[in-house]
Amino acid sequence: MTGTVASPARLSKRIDDGLAAVERAMLDVTDSQVEVLREASRHILSAGGKRIRPRLLLLTYLALGGDDIALAARPAAAVELMHTASVVHDDINDHGIMRRGRPSVNAAWGRTFALLTGDFLFTAVYELMAPYQELNVDLARAATALVEGETLQASAVKNSTFTREVYMEIIALKTAALFRAAAVIGAKLAETDRDTIDALADFGYKLGLAFQIIDDILDIVADEESLGKTSGLDCRQGRGVAVALRGGNGNGSALAANPVDAIKRQAMEGDTIDEARSQAGRLVKSAVDALSVLPSTPAKAALEELALTVIERDA
Ligand code: IPE
Ligand code: IPE
Ligand code: MG
Repeated sequence: MTGTVASPARLSKRIDDGLAAVERAMLDVTDSQVEVLREASRHILSAGGKRIRPRLLLLTYLALGGDDIALAARPAAAVELMHTASVVHDDINDHGIMRRGRPSVNAAWGRTFALLTGDFLFTAVYELMAPYQELNVDLARAATALVEGETLQASAVKNSTFTREVYMEIIALKTAALFRAAAVIGAKLAETDRDTIDALADFGYKLGLAFQIIDDILDIVADEESLGKTSGLDCRQGRGVAVALRGGNGNGSALAANPVDAIKRQAMEGDTIDEARSQAGRLVKSAVDALSVLPSTPAKAALEELALTVIERDA
């Protein structure tokens, strides 16, 4: 451990500097000679996004006394690029036509170039992570989990086996694993001890689960304009938190006339959404409890605040 950031204003400046370095690193590493790859990457990267995963990595690093923000910015950029690659591919699979308030890459460039842009963003991660030795293993495991989660989800939809248990397994793999990796990488870069790394892993993992549950609720209740992405896809495709909580997609025949409306109506009228929100709330509380190992610093307070934004967000 090195120095901790003492004041909230100083922390805010360091995070801003770190996130600016993340943006630069992502643009640098995707500056291909091939126009479509360069332009499609810029299109999705410059559209913004919440940047919650790099923020999590940087805050974890600072909360544990890390003080070389440039050292942490490249892995933070790698995590965000991996996430961005996953949404580019996800929009092909899900037929999403809007992402981050813009036409999705598949809507703007077509499926083939979207597939290749996603590949390109994934491979750029290698270059960013090359100097970081064992941290590559943490990120590679999260990448594998992400692909496994998306694959399990597609299988569960196809085979009508989308139950609550399967849902939890899917979101653990497709979303929570990368949040966990972000926190673990931040912690390891700060050269902390094993117990603290495990506590931060727990924090990231639970935060990721809650994040995906809230995302699935928003897919039902929020409008596309505020979300900036195509919504209603989960119900249409027989998956997501509402399908899981109503007991799976195995009895779809009763809903065959209009499954989207039926699932949506059931979710809105019943207590599904409240139930899902409570579950996310419990996860976030448990995530915050895991932070008790950290010294009281502005960075710890910012991690707690980040956790609360996950359940309070409406877009
Ligand atoms: C969207 O993630 C995909 C999920 C895991 C739910 P974000 O909501 O973090 O997407 P951006 O980066 O802000 O666009
Ligand atoms: C997003 O999953 C991609 C990954 C988590 C890998 P979703 O399909 O649930 O998220 P959105 O709603 O398209 O962002
Ligand atoms: Mg999707």
